[in-house]
Amino acid sequence: MKTEILSALFVLVCLNVFSPLHCEPKGPIPEGNLLVLTVATKETDGFKRFMRSARHFNYTVKVLGRGEKWTGGDYMSAPGGGQKVRLLKSALDSIKEEDKIILFVDSYDVIFSSGPKELLKKFQQTKHKVLFSSETLIWPDRHLEDKYPHVREGKRFLGAGGFIGYAPNLKEMVSDWSGKDDDSDQLFFTKIYINPEKRKSINITLDSKCRLFQNLDGALDEVVLKFENGRVRARNVLYDTLPVIVHGNGPTKLQINYLGNYIPKVWTFETGCSVCNEDLRPLSGLKESEYPGVVIGIFIEQPTPFLTVFFERLFHLKYPKNRLKLFIYNQEPHHDKHVHAFLQNHEAEYQAVKMIGPDEGVDHITSRNIGFDMCRDDPDCEYFFSMEADVVLKNEDALKILIELNKPFIAPMMSKPGRLWSNFWGALSADGYYARSEDYVDIVQGRRVGIWNVPYVSQIYLLRADILRNELKAPDLFQSATLDPDMAFCSRVRDQGVFMFVTNMHTYGRILYTENYQTDHLHNDLWQIFDNPVDWEERYIHPNYSQIMKGNIVETPCPDVYWFPVFSQVACDHLVEEMENYGKWSGGGNVDTRIQGGYENVPTIDIHMNQVNFDKEWHKFLLEYIAPVTEKMFPGYYTKAQFDLAFVVRYKPDEQPSLKPHHDASTFTVNIALNQVGIDFQGGGCRFLRYDCSIQAPRKGWALMHPGRLTHYHEGLPTTGGVRYIAVSFVDP
Ligand SMILES: *[C@@H]1O[C@H](CO)[C@@H](O)[C@H](O)[C@H]1NC(C)=O
Ligand SMILES: *[C@@H]1O[C@H](CO)[C@@H](O)[C@H](O)[C@H]1NC(C)=O
Ligand SMILES: *[C@@H]1O[C@H](CO)[C@@H](O)[C@H](O)[C@H]1NC(C)=O
Repeated sequence: MKTEILSALFVLVCLNVFSPLHCEPKGPIPEGNLLVLTVATKETDGFKRFMRSARHFNYTVKVLGRGEKWTGGDYMSAPGGGQKVRLLKSALDSIKEEDKIILFVDSYDVIFSSGPKELLKKFQQTKHKVLFSSETLIWPDRHLEDKYPHVREGKRFLGAGGFIGYAPNLKEMVSDWSGKDDDSDQLFFTKIYINPEKRKSINITLDSKCRLFQNLDGALDEVVLKFENGRVRARNVLYDTLPVIVHGNGPTKLQINYLGNYIPKVWTFETGCSVCNEDLRPLSGLKESEYPGVVIGIFIEQPTPFLTVFFERLFHLKYPKNRLKLFIYNQEPHHDKHVHAFLQNHEAEYQAVKMIGPDEGVDHITSRNIGFDMCRDDPDCEYFFSMEADVVLKNEDALKILIELNKPFIAPMMSKPGRLWSNFWGALSADGYYARSEDYVDIVQGRRVGIWNVPYVSQIYLLRADILRNELKAPDLFQSATLDPDMAFCSRVRDQGVFMFVTNMHTYGRILYTENYQTDHLHNDLWQIFDNPVDWEERYIHPNYSQIMKGNIVETPCPDVYWFPVFSQVACDHLVEEMENYGKWSGGGNVDTRIQGGYENVPTIDIHMNQVNFDKEWHKFLLEYIAPVTEKMFPGYYTKAQFDLAFVVRYKPDEQPSLKPHHDASTFTVNIALNQVGIDFQGGGCRFLRYDCSIQAPRKGWALMHPGRLTHYHEGLPTTGGVRYIAVSFVDP
């Protein structure tokens, strides 16, 4: 109450004694006197960011030009902005209060980093009626340099992207405006400022040391983030000031985007992400038929490991399939059969499927456009979900989660296991390539969790269809003379002012290594134990294997014979099929040119791992998955899992049904059953003579591990029907 009465008094005094343009109240300016004016013809992501920061500090904002067509020129390159002066001028006409203070700022690339109180206090301290932001670089007419007043310290040139002043003074300042919408606002204000009479009569000065306004152009080295007590500001280290308003003018959009991931309180060390749950679009409670229509674009552009698993995951994505349409682009003949197998089983469950195969001669840039068009041209399509075949989307809720986050463009963060390689870049180098942002490692490793506005994403993202139909409607989004298609695309997205968000609030999955993938085998994924060990394990190791070390699931069917699950069903099938596909089974005679000495005392019908070039991978498997069990069961014995002989044996009634009693040429032997008794074959099993103990119901995927010599003299029991396969390794011969 008191301050209101006081300020009313000041107004009276001013009106009576001074001309209104030079009225000077002595107390603090009441916050209620401040009005923020900005021009925004569209509600871009940048505008929303601006408004959020304004709301955070309770600024009163009036938006001019909403819905109007922007005719003020291309803000990225040419001067323009006359439209802003026109709109300001007419807005000022309706403001009658002499003590009204107007802050006029851009919005798409502006963030408030502090509140009205600090702003007004700093303004008052300048003892001027109009205060412009300052710039390092002179723009747009550098010939005017000499006319600029000198400053002892700080920046000398005027920036039109932000100024504050008393309404009457601003009215006087724009009263002469008669320019066109695409004339330069900055030039207009510059000419007023460099005119000594006008500068004096309107009482204009510059915020040379960025106490209120920080323009980033030409000043990137001056600005750092300052984290303090649950809030974040920008700090100008050159002048040691804390600007209230940060403006990514000119070519500094990436930097303002970076700062905007933190300022004013988007992410802090104390609170983490405080905006991540704003503006959600909840899907829960919707009927299936009410789910947004999504086109999923799948791009297979190189031989890719675990593609069948990719399609299994796609199938298990939690989303009503009758709201999904698939666009599948496959450039690899090798994967034809995988795509067709998937479609054969599931095509009918999806709302629609469009497939482009390797024979159709469609290059991958064109394929992306066709995919986008499938969504653009479909009134029912609300989102395009783009996925490359090398993404491992583990999170079945991913699509729902991303839609609920309700952003025009959002990517789930994924990385290569154990690496810093991910599907986003935190920064760009000057020529548009990868650069590491200060927070990149923390984001990839999950120490900073949130939704991040970044300059580049690839591999997987969700794009809102209205963006595809408007901002991104150009047919050449992926085309560029200098950039690769993904980089070209991201640069278009950025230029359209669409923010590319990446989120690491959930774990979504990972990205495969595809570089060394060879396709000369039947089941090439078996060879992926080195390049993609996590995927290899998920696919090929028994789901209960991990319990071996924790629990007591290892059985002892005979003395010192240990029995435990190690291979998945798929691993068994793939190994058998691979061997049958190779087909060069040994004859089962004593003469064997494959082994040292050329003589096999106890021959079997078999194929050695090295015959299919699987010995290195097999060794890795023994080392990773068998050696730990050996060391647990035979304490004190350490093994490097060396072997001369590792092979798959085939037992058949009319070929070789059994094996006579023998010792193995090993310290210990691992014998893995590759198929199922009672289903794939009858009979079979293994008998240890010394203990007169047999294992007659071998379990598919389970390994027997026993000493090779001396105590464990054993025989292979006859297979009486079907075909039985086992994988045998003589370890530490
Ligand atoms: C903004 O206003 C609300 C309610 O009027 C108040 O609770 C909040 O503290 C204010 N915030 C600031 C930063 O002043
Ligand atoms: C601006 O106005 C203040 C008083 O309000 C005065 O002290 C100052 O000299 C003026 N500056 C100019 C450049 O006219
Ligand atoms: C894993 O073990 C549980 C019991 O511990 C069993 O119910 C389940 O069938 C096992 N899984 C497989 C694939 O064998």
